[in-house]
Amino acid sequence: MSSVSAHFARLPVGHGLERGAALALTLDGRTVTAYEGETVAALLLAEGHVATRRTRGGSPRGVYCGMGVCFDCLVVVDGVPNTRACVTWVLEGMDVARQDGLVPAAGAQ
Ligand code: FES
Repeated sequence: MSSVSAHFARLPVGHGLERGAALALTLDGRTVTAYEGETVAALLLAEGHVATRRTRGGSPRGVYCGMGVCFDCLVVVDGVPNTRACVTWVLEGMDVARQDGLVPAAGAQ
Protein backbone atom coordinates (compact mmCIF):
# COMPACT_ATOMS: atom_id res chain seq x y z
CA MET A 1 0.00 0.00 0.00
CA SER A 2 1.40 3.35 -0.95
CA SER A 3 2.07 6.24 1.37
CA VAL A 4 2.87 9.87 0.87
CA SER A 5 6.54 10.75 0.75
CA ALA A 6 6.35 13.73 3.08
CA HIS A 7 5.01 12.93 6.53
CA PHE A 8 2.26 14.95 8.07
CA ALA A 9 4.46 16.11 10.92
CA ARG A 10 2.90 16.52 14.32
CA LEU A 11 2.53 20.08 15.48
CA PRO A 12 5.36 21.19 17.77
CA VAL A 13 4.53 21.29 21.46
CA GLY A 14 4.44 24.61 23.25
CA HIS A 15 2.36 27.73 22.85
CA GLY A 16 -0.47 25.99 24.69
CA LEU A 17 -0.14 22.68 22.86
CA GLU A 18 0.75 19.69 25.03
CA ARG A 19 1.43 16.10 24.04
CA GLY A 20 0.57 12.95 25.99
CA ALA A 21 3.00 10.28 27.08
CA ALA A 22 4.87 8.39 24.36
CA LEU A 23 3.49 4.95 23.59
CA ALA A 24 5.11 2.11 21.63
CA LEU A 25 2.93 0.19 19.23
CA THR A 26 3.20 -1.51 15.86
CA LEU A 27 1.94 -0.26 12.53
CA ASP A 28 2.04 -2.80 9.70
CA GLY A 29 4.56 -4.78 11.76
CA ARG A 30 6.89 -1.85 12.37
CA THR A 31 7.40 -0.35 15.84
CA VAL A 32 6.28 3.27 15.94
CA THR A 33 5.74 5.94 18.57
CA ALA A 34 2.35 7.47 19.20
CA TYR A 35 1.19 9.75 21.98
CA GLU A 36 -1.54 9.31 24.52
CA GLY A 37 -4.59 11.24 23.35
CA GLU A 38 -4.04 10.56 19.65
CA THR A 39 -6.39 8.49 17.51
CA VAL A 40 -5.17 5.72 15.25
CA ALA A 41 -6.05 8.01 12.33
CA ALA A 42 -3.74 10.71 13.70
CA LEU A 43 -0.96 8.15 14.03
CA LEU A 44 -1.43 6.99 10.43
CA LEU A 45 -1.30 10.56 9.13
CA ALA A 46 1.76 11.34 11.27
CA GLU A 47 3.43 8.26 9.76
CA GLY A 48 2.61 9.48 6.25
CA HIS A 49 -0.25 7.13 5.42
CA VAL A 50 -3.21 8.94 3.92
CA ALA A 51 -4.84 5.64 2.89
CA THR A 52 -5.91 3.56 5.84
CA ARG A 53 -7.24 0.75 3.67
CA ARG A 54 -7.98 -0.43 0.16
CA THR A 55 -11.38 -1.50 -1.10
CA ARG A 56 -11.99 -4.95 -2.54
CA GLY A 57 -11.40 -3.36 -5.97
CA GLY A 58 -8.08 -1.84 -4.83
CA SER A 59 -9.11 1.79 -4.42
CA PRO A 60 -7.49 3.64 -1.52
CA ARG A 61 -9.65 5.00 1.27
CA GLY A 62 -8.75 7.13 4.26
CA VAL A 63 -10.08 9.61 6.76
CA TYR A 64 -13.08 11.39 5.30
CA CYS A 65 -15.52 12.49 8.02
CA GLY A 66 -13.11 12.12 10.94
CA MET A 67 -15.95 11.51 13.37
CA GLY A 68 -16.99 7.87 13.02
CA VAL A 69 -19.77 8.21 10.47
CA CYS A 70 -18.47 7.25 7.01
CA PHE A 71 -16.49 4.06 7.80
CA ASP A 72 -13.85 4.96 5.19
CA CYS A 73 -10.97 4.78 7.69
CA LEU A 74 -11.19 1.08 8.55
CA VAL A 75 -8.07 -0.64 9.87
CA VAL A 76 -7.23 -3.84 11.70
CA VAL A 77 -6.52 -3.26 15.41
CA ASP A 78 -5.20 -6.14 17.51
CA GLY A 79 -6.52 -8.54 14.88
CA VAL A 80 -10.00 -6.99 14.77
CA PRO A 81 -10.87 -5.83 11.23
CA ASN A 82 -13.21 -2.98 10.32
CA THR A 83 -12.11 -0.78 13.23
CA ARG A 84 -12.65 2.93 12.61
CA ALA A 85 -9.26 4.64 12.95
CA CYS A 86 -10.76 8.07 13.56
CA VAL A 87 -12.56 7.10 16.76
CA THR A 88 -10.04 4.64 18.20
CA TRP A 89 -7.50 5.92 20.72
CA VAL A 90 -3.96 4.59 20.53
CA LEU A 91 -2.87 2.33 23.39
CA GLU A 92 0.49 1.00 24.53
CA GLY A 93 1.31 -2.25 22.70
CA MET A 94 -1.54 -1.92 20.20
CA ASP A 95 -1.06 -3.70 16.86
CA VAL A 96 -2.41 -1.65 13.93
CA ALA A 97 -2.49 -2.75 10.30
CA ARG A 98 -3.88 -1.02 7.27
CA GLN A 99 -6.72 -3.09 5.90
CA ASP A 100 -6.62 -4.60 2.43
CA GLY A 101 -9.92 -5.48 0.83
CA LEU A 102 -13.11 -6.71 2.41
CA VAL A 103 -12.57 -8.40 5.75
CA PRO A 104 -15.65 -10.19 7.05
CA ALA A 105 -16.62 -9.69 10.66
CA ALA A 106 -15.85 -12.57 13.03
CA GLY A 107 -18.38 -15.37 12.59
CA ALA A 108 -19.57 -14.14 9.20
CA GLN A 109 -19.46 -16.51 6.24
S1 FES B 1 -13.19 8.93 8.80
FE1 FES B 1 -15.31 8.55 8.71
S2 FES B 1 -15.59 6.91 10.10
FE2 FES B 1 -13.51 7.42 10.28
